[in-house]
Amino acid sequence: MSGSPVVAVLPAAGSGVRLGAGVPKAFVEVGGVPMLVRAVDGLLGSGVVDHVVVVVPAEQVHDAVGLLPGRPVTVVPGGADRTASVAAGLAATRPDAEVVLVHDAARPLTPAGVVRRVVDAVRAGAPAVIPVLPVTDTVKTVDPAGTVLSTVDRSTLRAVQTPQGFRARELRLAYASGPDPATDDAGLVEALGEPVATVAGDPLAFKVTTGWDLRIAGLLLGGAPDEGVGIE
Ligand code: C5P
Repeated sequence: MSGSPVVAVLPAAGSGVRLGAGVPKAFVEVGGVPMLVRAVDGLLGSGVVDHVVVVVPAEQVHDAVGLLPGRPVTVVPGGADRTASVAAGLAATRPDAEVVLVHDAARPLTPAGVVRRVVDAVRAGAPAVIPVLPVTDTVKTVDPAGTVLSTVDRSTLRAVQTPQGFRARELRLAYASGPDPATDDAGLVEALGEPVATVAGDPLAFKVTTGWDLRIAGLLLGGAPDEGVGIE
């Protein structure tokens, strides 16, 4: 580890209704290990993250601490939506952090290479950095009845993953304005007029949302490579 401290905020306070597992999504196991633990270990194992602030439902703080012994982590209670949970995590980050990552606990297979690319790009001077993938399906807009309105030029589209990386100052500023709920932290920094840079994401950094995703994650763990595929 070199240079100024890098802290990651890991929002893991979602209920996971779409997954239907009966426990908060981040506590669901993939390959016998809770997603939250995989996500924390993936960040720390990248070698470029010093500390992780894990944000979980208030009633799960004790359990989460018990799942993460011996790691440089702080566990704090989250909020009603992802934005509120990230804000709670950000408030608990150490003040000397110069780079802050925000990473979904629901992306347990994210390769170390993605984390390193994001941190490197922030260290190289970008105020905000997101890992992206090309969109391979054709994308259309439709009206409420489902009739096609238009076909979008997919060559300019990117699917956005996490971890997203920020100069700490810019992210704190974005959250200081009491933002509306957002699915994407970079969008808040974008709204401040700051440029958002992109680096190559990785298919393995996909988000576990449905039971199908959970099955895919389990299958991949049968033979997932340590390093990613690295597609942009
Ligand atoms: O719901 P979605 O899959 O977009 O959630 C992305 C991430 O945000 C997950 O890791 C989830 O646990 C987290 N989240 C949160 N607090 C909420 C809702 C979602 O930390 N209230």
